[in-house]
Amino acid sequence: MAVPAAILLLSSLAACASTGARAPVGPSAAAAPIVIAHRGASGHRPEHTLEGYTLAVQMGADFIEPDLVRTKDGALVARHENEIGGTTDVATKFASRKTRKVVDGDTINGWFTEDFTLAELRTLRAKERLSFRSHAYDGQFRIPTFDEVLALADSLGRARGRVVGVYPETKHPTYFRSIGLPIEEPLLLALRARGLDRADAPVFIQSFENGNLRTLATQTRVRLIQLVSTAPQVTPAALRDIATYAYGVGANTRQIVGEDSSAVPTTLIADAHAAGLRVHVWTLRPEPVFLAKRYGGDPIAEVRELLRLGVDGLFGDYPDQVVRGLRR
Ligand code: G3P
Ligand code: CA
Repeated sequence: MAVPAAILLLSSLAACASTGARAPVGPSAAAAPIVIAHRGASGHRPEHTLEGYTLAVQMGADFIEPDLVRTKDGALVARHENEIGGTTDVATKFASRKTRKVVDGDTINGWFTEDFTLAELRTLRAKERLSFRSHAYDGQFRIPTFDEVLALADSLGRARGRVVGVYPETKHPTYFRSIGLPIEEPLLLALRARGLDRADAPVFIQSFENGNLRTLATQTRVRLIQLVSTAPQVTPAALRDIATYAYGVGANTRQIVGEDSSAVPTTLIADAHAAGLRVHVWTLRPEPVFLAKRYGGDPIAEVRELLRLGVDGLFGDYPDQVVRGLRR
């Protein structure tokens, strides 16, 4: 059983107390798996809101995850995708701005961040995207900028005497660059402005694309995570290639464990570790539509199996459940 993150954190804080140094976070702290709040505590609050990120930290998450897209006037904001009809009240406030676009090969009808200024997005309020989750907080919370997320992580960490990490994902990076709104440059500028463009910063930059990560590897020492979702991306040879530019891989849990209890776990974790890569897995969600049948409805069993298999980090919509699984 892995040592609980909270215990390692207390040891780390004790060591830092006399020097005034900030405690390290994540893999550098020890071999403790990190808890990553997926889109915030998105099972409890509308995703990508300061309120959702705050709750996640209160629940013990080590990192908060903002997915990043850009606005018409260039601001970096936290949204899972540039289409915002499913997660905000844009349809009622800007009905006439609905349009159709092709993004990364998909034809999408909706409202897109790149068609709105930050001031316009400020008038919107977030809502829960999934029908089977609570809608009690719909219409209350704003869309945050990336810099607001960085500021929040810093203030929450200071208030709690620990480091709160930030785990940004570049969303549709080739598409955004093609329309003159690249994500990587303002991302690095924002990190540099806060002294976070360094190898030991409590930051991971993730992407499903590899071209932008290969370029970022030449521009920053921040640790990079290659998101993977297909078998050809995780062969031993492919993993060794990823290790030339990335610190780790972010893998779908289904690439490691199958749906049924009869399925034997894959060698992805061992192969990645052999290549020198850390493995962070997404996304732990307890609802029956998401949770593999092999866990019999128990989300803690999923955490425990992934820990036994050696994962280095876990993305969860309910960070409280992941923390609970780590503590058992
Ligand atoms: O970034 C890890 C995981 O979040 C990838 O999936 O679609 O939720 O961004 P997605
Ligand atoms: Ca993500």
